[in-house]
Amino acid sequence: MSLKKISKVQPKNFKFNAKNLKSAEKVISNYPKGKQQSAVMALLYIAQRQNHNWIPLSAMKYIANILDMPYIKVYEVATFYTMYNLSPVGEYFFQVCTTTPCMLSGAYKLVDVCKKKISQNESEISKNGKSSWMEVECLGACVNAPMIQINNDYFEDLDSQKLEKIIDQIINNHKPKPGSYRGRLSSEPMNIRKTLMDNKNA
Ligand code: FES
Repeated sequence: MSLKKISKVQPKNFKFNAKNLKSAEKVISNYPKGKQQSAVMALLYIAQRQNHNWIPLSAMKYIANILDMPYIKVYEVATFYTMYNLSPVGEYFFQVCTTTPCMLSGAYKLVDVCKKKISQNESEISKNGKSSWMEVECLGACVNAPMIQINNDYFEDLDSQKLEKIIDQIINNHKPKPGSYRGRLSSEPMNIRKTLMDNKNA
């Protein structure tokens, strides 16, 4: 179960930098006049990227102002979707899926690795200030369970040892390879089985 916590420490002000303001205006221009509020999710995402992967309350107010909509509505969207972080997260943010298929395939062993190698508690920044982790609901890669998302990449078909190696690579400033850790290209059957083409493997 994921927990959404709003940071107690909040910056007073937020505004888009020039590049992100341009991106926001481009997104807004995709919608007809009077429907600019439809851009709220995209603008929250841009704010999150600009602000080291989390959204302060001042950014929600700023976006409400740009989109001419009540602040509470922006707040509702930001607090509903788990992809928006409302407190600071590590430079490497590990999201461990613990929904049923991942849970049955060993997701809680991955949680134990995160507790051991990153921080004892969810949403707590590691001692070296580099990483944090949290449990999340299904990330849509159930066929390759168990999996985690690190920043924008998916790491799939994991077990404890493989995740430990990934974290060690990050600690040593190497970039781990995303994708399946059982050699799959995507979500095809294991061992190049061709279901329905080979009776033995069907
Ligand atoms: S249950 Fe983990 S990705 Fe769907």
